[in-house]
Amino acid sequence: MARIAYDDEAAAAFEATRHIPDQGLAAWRAAVTRHLDPRPGARVLDLGAGTGRWAAAFTDWYDDLDVIAVEPSAAMRARCVHPRVLPGDAANIPLPDHSVDAAWLSTVIHHVPDLAAAARELRRVVRGGGPVLIRSAFAGRHEAITLFRFFPEAIRVLDTFPSVADVAATFGACGFAVTAFDQIPQTTASSLSECATRLRREAHTPLQLITDDEYAAGLARLHRAARSEHGPVIDALDLLVLR
Ligand SMILES: C[S@@+](CC[C@H](N)C(=O)[O-])C[C@H]1O[C@@H](n2cnc3c(N)ncnc32)[C@H](O)[C@@H]1O
Repeated sequence: MARIAYDDEAAAAFEATRHIPDQGLAAWRAAVTRHLDPRPGARVLDLGAGTGRWAAAFTDWYDDLDVIAVEPSAAMRARCVHPRVLPGDAANIPLPDHSVDAAWLSTVIHHVPDLAAAARELRRVVRGGGPVLIRSAFAGRHEAITLFRFFPEAIRVLDTFPSVADVAATFGACGFAVTAFDQIPQTTASSLSECATRLRREAHTPLQLITDDEYAAGLARLHRAARSEHGPVIDALDLLVLR
């Protein structure tokens, strides 16, 4: 069970508001290029691919990269912009042993109920030495994410997510070692005003799990700040690489 239901409403909100345009992802593109080794013919698993934004970007960024998306929610799969998407989850990856060169998990790890089972499955499907790239907001690491400035109560939700140490230890028990840990910036919106206008609570797990009053107060703070603060909204999420 994910922390929130990725039903039709959440999937529609995610599709409408969480696709960052390519120009906002330059640093992510560089980081993925550095760690994923996206050579022609390589096969990459996008686990918990959602609406397929990253699978589609990788296909666009790299020649002849074979990207397979796996996603448990039928509503997300129905909106997936990447054609090769299979039902499955982190504990049941519908792929043969040693069948992919790398795996990508973007803002998924906190939804995985059994991290050890996920680590075992990734060990099984990723060919020896291949990287697992985990893009996430980890517990204790809210500082570089704008929404937490306006919705500080959401930090208590973030702090229930796995920490970097939790993930490193659980994956370590399956033979993975951390080879990189970087904070990667992205342009999330062109302005705070755009951010405020487009925000959909259903698209953000930490916002769904605070109270309605906390959400209303945060939204008011965000709209107030948007009247006087201009310029792009730059956030940074973490990239944890294990091999
Ligand atoms: C925040 S969305 C991220 C989607 C996509 N990776 C992205 O970054 O655009 C989280 C996704 O994880 C999926 N998910 C939830 N539980 C999962 C699990 N146990 N294994 C794999 N994916 C899961 C959800 O269905 C949802 O599509």
